Amino acid sequence: MPTAISLFTGCGGSDAGLAQAGFSVLMANDVLPYARDVYLANHADTDYRLGDVAEIKSFPSADLLVGCYPCQGFSQGGVREPSRKINRLYLEFARALRTVKPKAFIVENVAGMVRANFRHLLKNQLAAFRRAGYRVSCEVLNSADFGVAQERRRIFIVGIRKDLDAVYKFPSPTHGIDAPRPFCTIREAIGDMPHWPEGEFYARSFHWYYMSRDRRRGWDDLSKTIVANPRHMPLHPLSPAMIKLEHNVWKFVDDAPARRFSYREAARLQGFCDVEFPDTKPGTLDMRYTVIGNAVPPPLFAAVAGALPKIW
Ligand SMILES: C[S@@+](CC[C@H](N)C(=O)[O-])C[C@H]1O[C@@H](n2cnc3c(N)ncnc32)[C@H](O)[C@@H]1O
Repeated sequence: MPTAISLFTGCGGSDAGLAQAGFSVLMANDVLPYARDVYLANHADTDYRLGDVAEIKSFPSADLLVGCYPCQGFSQGGVREPSRKINRLYLEFARALRTVKPKAFIVENVAGMVRANFRHLLKNQLAAFRRAGYRVSCEVLNSADFGVAQERRRIFIVGIRKDLDAVYKFPSPTHGIDAPRPFCTIREAIGDMPHWPEGEFYARSFHWYYMSRDRRRGWDDLSKTIVANPRHMPLHPLSPAMIKLEHNVWKFVDDAPARRFSYREAARLQGFCDVEFPDTKPGTLDMRYTVIGNAVPPPLFAAVAGALPKIW
């Protein structure tokens, strides 16, 4: 079985995908205690090191290195500020790459990185990985095209060590209009779940910003992007439809009850099989949403990792 090291691991969306693609994850790392708790409740055998990646002095050897460094600097939801320190965590990933020298690596990040004002940061990352000795390619993929019931566009950077006679080709869509299978819908992903799971959804009011756009999709649609902030979580299809009143002002068509997706529904819409959420102290409702919303959809990561050439 090929082996992997995972950095910026969170609760393990990427790593669940690695497991599906046949990798054994030897070591994982994150700063968030509840991400570690969820990860270990679901994958007990990995050496999960809690703390700042910059403090890791030694790594095991492994065939593959993966890392999904934080994206607040580029994402729609965060402050789009190219100079933020958080946008330089890729240098920690490059340090691990130079130390471990795996046969291949995979990085995931928000698609906003290809925007004109961030392109220099993307170029810096690609240059750092090339200098570390890798042939590098990148592509934006949508999780809906890989059987996830959600529209979520993310950039993937894949590198193969230059001394290996192999090239990487990104996977073709498996789901969608021109693909072998139809898109997976919200109904298929969560239709069997309780309709009103008290205590498992964020029940605060819908503030003006929430009501500034349409947050609802129907049962037979793809979900809007699952985010890490529960305040901005899309609406469950049981909620009334929304209509536009004027620019940035929407309202519900009637007074029927409306609610956001629960954190368990969010996990299904990210393509996780059911996740165990341990009742440890940092596991507040908001934190459960955060670790799930931050995750890479496992089927998408499995498709990217599964497309690696057989170099193990
Ligand atoms: C996009 S999320 C990763 C998602 C994860 N790969 C998954 O699929 O579940 C980025 C993660 O980086 C972590 N992080 C941020 N700064 C860090 C640091 N200095 N050292 C280690 N982890 C860090 C965050 O806590 C967050 O969980």
